[in-house]
Amino acid sequence: MKHEIGAEKPAYLKEEWPGQYEFFSHFEFTAGVPQALCLITTLKENGKSNACFHAWQCFAGDGEAYHAVVAGLSLRGHTYQNILREKEFCINFLSAAQYDACIKTIEENGAENDELLSAGLTPEEGKTVKAPRVKEAFLTLECAFESAQDLSGKGIIGLVVGRVTHAAAENGFCAPDKLCSPEGFMFNVHAPKNPVTGEGSFTAVASLSAQRYV
Ligand SMILES: Cc1cc2nc3c(=O)[nH]c(=O)nc-3n(C[C@H](O)[C@H](O)[C@H](O)COP(=O)(O)O)c2cc1C
Repeated sequence: MKHEIGAEKPAYLKEEWPGQYEFFSHFEFTAGVPQALCLITTLKENGKSNACFHAWQCFAGDGEAYHAVVAGLSLRGHTYQNILREKEFCINFLSAAQYDACIKTIEENGAENDELLSAGLTPEEGKTVKAPRVKEAFLTLECAFESAQDLSGKGIIGLVVGRVTHAAAENGFCAPDKLCSPEGFMFNVHAPKNPVTGEGSFTAVASLSAQRYV
């Protein structure tokens, strides 16, 4: 049996914090689609590292270009402003062991902070961008800004597209068994809710497990 969930927020979903359903669609919680987590790093105006723990992005390309499609970037956040000003950013993938450090970048979000150093992470120079890379990341994609759009139409979340100009991959991390392990990509399964009762407030921080190699 399938539950049918309409475009209007079901009444059984109650706000757990003020503005939850203005910032997030109810489908975020009723769909529960796992999203790869990354740290988007940019340069602050004072030259220090800015970091945004981020879930909503994907990648697509052809022989000409590989695009980072950053689909849900807060238009009110520092990262968006930094990208518009600097025209570049890095997408860094860290394993689930670095979850607490990634959360620390949110807590240490002050304008004067180097958010990577404050979180116990190490900024590293990029090859094609001035935006800092994260040394602890097993994969960093350096990106040049291409376009931005207000996805929400009301200044909440934006769609930023970047062109990948360089990749830095840790030795051994091109192997599928490494990427599909707790040392590989970290995923966000964002507080999926029971579609009948609305219950469910736990978020899973997950990693991949390969079912077969084909
Ligand atoms: C698990 C997790 C996932 C997040 N995903 C996003 C996201 O996809 N987009 C976004 O704008 N903020 C996301 N955030 C919130 C940002 O990390 C947070 O607002 C951060 O302080 C923004 O930094 P900035 O203002 O320097 O850009 C996420 C937070 C957590 C804990």
